Amino acid sequence: MTLDNPSINPHDSYGLGRRIFRKLVHFFSYHFIIDRNRTTSTEAAGLHLKVGPGVFHPKIFLTSEFFAKFLQAQDLTGRSVVEVGTGSGILALSAAKAGAAPVLALDINPQAVATAAANAELNGLPQVEARHSNLFSAVSESEKFDIVLSSPPSFGGEPKSMADRAWHAGPGYRDILPLFDQAAARLKPGGVMYLLISSDTNAALFDHLIEKAGFTSTRIATQSIVIEEFYLYELRQRTVAAIAAE
Ligand SMILES: C[S@@+](CC[C@H](N)C(=O)[O-])C[C@H]1O[C@@H](n2cnc3c(N)ncnc32)[C@H](O)[C@@H]1O
Repeated sequence: MTLDNPSINPHDSYGLGRRIFRKLVHFFSYHFIIDRNRTTSTEAAGLHLKVGPGVFHPKIFLTSEFFAKFLQAQDLTGRSVVEVGTGSGILALSAAKAGAAPVLALDINPQAVATAAANAELNGLPQVEARHSNLFSAVSESEKFDIVLSSPPSFGGEPKSMADRAWHAGPGYRDILPLFDQAAARLKPGGVMYLLISSDTNAALFDHLIEKAGFTSTRIATQSIVIEEFYLYELRQRTVAAIAAE
């Protein structure tokens, strides 16, 4: 099992120029978009969304709509869903629009939690509950779900602020290292995790974490933009028979 595109590790295959360009994009995004001290409104993936101060913008950053449209195309009727790192709530709301219930939207950023709760109300989706949580810290292991969603921060490196935790997960991805183990513990048998990563993500490290947590991964969608690619993966728990055969 690997995240099946060797080129997704930028340290292996992308030029210095492209990495510098990405740093510049982050610099301008951070100062002019992420770190704004006001609430704005937008429409994304057919949802009306408020975007609170320091909350990941679901229209300007293209990963959100890519993932949201994938979810809205599924039939999730009656499936229980938890999202780790909900930001504006766009993915949790999209799962609810596709029929999922209940839907739990988690974020470490209190502004994101308040924003996701407000957006659930705004869009008439009362089955979405927003909860403040560091990964799954606010979810007991007895709470089980059919589906886990996550679009985690793309970069390692120390976040400058709470808002910047949408982009930076600490040196060596410190802040999200337990994500896959914790997700595996909350999935019902036969459950699935949908994960969005970027070509900026350290694929080798994610591969290791995913495998250690007992998942296999399949890439199910790709979107390319000028400076980056986005990959959507489906993770499923390896069966006892498959593990025994390894
Ligand atoms: C790339 S943004 C994605 C937001 C949203 N899911 C979307 O697609 O628009 C990552 C989100 O993860 C949250 N996050 C980062 N580290 C976290 C952690 N340890 N626990 C919970 N949420 C975290 C950030 O605050 C941010 O809202």
